[in-house]
Amino acid sequence: MPTDAARDAAASQISASRAGGPAPVVRTFFDPATFTATHVVHDPATRQAAIIDSVLDYDPASGRTRHDSASAVLAYVRAEGLEVAWQLETHAHADHLSAAPWLQGQVGGALAIGADIVQVQDVFGKIFNAGTAFARDGSQFDRLFHDGERFRLGSIEAIALHVPGHTPADMAFVIGDAAFIGDTLFMPDYGTARADFPGGDAGMLYRSIRRLLSLPGETRLFLCHDYGAPGRDHFVWETTVSAERQGNIHVHDGVSQDDFVAMRTTRDATLDLPRLIMPSVQVNMRGGHLPDPESNGTRYIKIPLDTL
Ligand SMILES: [Fe+2]
Repeated sequence: MPTDAARDAAASQISASRAGGPAPVVRTFFDPATFTATHVVHDPATRQAAIIDSVLDYDPASGRTRHDSASAVLAYVRAEGLEVAWQLETHAHADHLSAAPWLQGQVGGALAIGADIVQVQDVFGKIFNAGTAFARDGSQFDRLFHDGERFRLGSIEAIALHVPGHTPADMAFVIGDAAFIGDTLFMPDYGTARADFPGGDAGMLYRSIRRLLSLPGETRLFLCHDYGAPGRDHFVWETTVSAERQGNIHVHDGVSQDDFVAMRTTRDATLDLPRLIMPSVQVNMRGGHLPDPESNGTRYIKIPLDTL
């Protein structure tokens, strides 16, 4: 059986944390407009913090951006006296714009994403005909994580895991005993992320999910989204490996890769594209920076017709 050194390292980090290491504190801010959960995680010993998957508010009718969601995160960070070490993105989101550069301007923190963002930049750079001014080398970010790379949040150990499938570049960030798993699994009663965006792959998503579900059962999982579910009208963004293995409607223990891929492919064919995919991808492929202004000083979002 092949060993998975990065997974094993993450599993032993989680076990050590649960056995008495410092437990990271997580506070979540939920954006009901995009159903996105932004997590602020910090080390209570050093008060170092990471902001994960922040939201820049955007109204597609007017083209107006706002910082209401990010300002709520900022107010919490300041009130708690946190020192922001990281602005983490689990992936290039297609359903909301990232506020990471704006937050970085306010409170700092290294902007980081998975190293395979360069693939996403290549694909969407072509779709949006972004030209040579748009670098497709990940240089918009301060750090590009590879699978198994370690980092720290104050006194707490952390490790990045590559979990592709929803997009080619998705990462999960395991910080102490808490895993921030982006768009892979959602709550057990909702299921899993779609796998039909450019570069997505349902079989790959299945294998990434099984890898996450081979972490210790008590691992805390923090999700990037919740959409509610039949019989549940409140939003939830935290679960555990055990709960997902027992009850995830798409991928509980016993579901084969073939069955998952058939389900996922059938379901994805029925889904509309996210309402904000055009602005989101153009901004997030640039690390959350808006496109450069044109000669009149105005920034524009493009809409390729009959392409996506
Ligand atoms: Fe996503």
